[in-house]
Amino acid sequence: MTSTLSFDGKVALVTGAAAGIGLATATAFAEAGAAVTLADINGDALHDAADKLEAAGHRVIGVACDVTDEPSVAALVADTVTAFGRLDAAFNNAGIQAPVADTADATGDDFDQVIAINLRGVWNCLKHELRHMRQVGSGAIVNCSSQSGLVGMAGLGAYTASKHGVLGLTKCAALEYAARGIRINTICPGPTDTPMVAAALADHPDHMTHLVNGIPARRLGHPEEIASAVLWLCSPGAGFVIGQHLTADGGLTTQ
Ligand code: NAI
Repeated sequence: MTSTLSFDGKVALVTGAAAGIGLATATAFAEAGAAVTLADINGDALHDAADKLEAAGHRVIGVACDVTDEPSVAALVADTVTAFGRLDAAFNNAGIQAPVADTADATGDDFDQVIAINLRGVWNCLKHELRHMRQVGSGAIVNCSSQSGLVGMAGLGAYTASKHGVLGLTKCAALEYAARGIRINTICPGPTDTPMVAAALADHPDHMTHLVNGIPARRLGHPEEIASAVLWLCSPGAGFVIGQHLTADGGLTTQ
């Protein structure tokens, strides 16, 4: 029975790793023994995070990368393999929230930006991670969706479409590579205490208060709680888990 969460000798890649859920997951991978590539569009915050992990004795590199730019994503995977020799686990986490607006009032630019980062960005990462992993015949990838990948929420059409799309991409890629030693799954976090949620709380306090009151756990999730679910999905203990979504939302979508 292989239920260990040790990633000794393994290499992990996390996008959106300068803050929030991505930073917690990069930290968890490093603390579990992995060498980790942290990728983020925010170069200053990224290098600050990578420096802190390195100072704590972990093997990490920080690579500035916009996940919407496919050549940059290809270079990100290549940089990881050059630095650490392999890629075993990836968490395609980078994402943004859209301004809350009813569909008739939302802008096309906001829609395009959310889809570009949350959906095309995940596809870019999947594609280039798989190009490496298929050569070695092993690997585990987790894509970041949301409770908004499972249910609808008024005012969040573009975000919800992007997160539903992540589930579809994951299922198709998971079937393509299931027999080739590569597992691909999705994590669906519920409202989690990160800079993204702090910003939403500041902009729409009523909306967010209502949301938190509706969570059966009556609290936001901690980024570390999402990270531990991602590590499990990447671990040998999840070896027969393929093309699934794991929901960590305090019971929100169970109601
Ligand atoms: P966050 O805003 O705290 O951190 C996201 C990170 O992604 C930031 O460091 C940001 O610079 C980076 N990023 C943004 N655009 C990027 C791009 N184009 N290329 C590379 N990096 C980029 O967000 P949080 O809350 O940690 O969210 C992480 C993921 O979890 C997102 O996909 C989000 O949709 C998802 N999620 C978050 C929930 C929450 O309540 N915090 C709930 C459900 C899902």
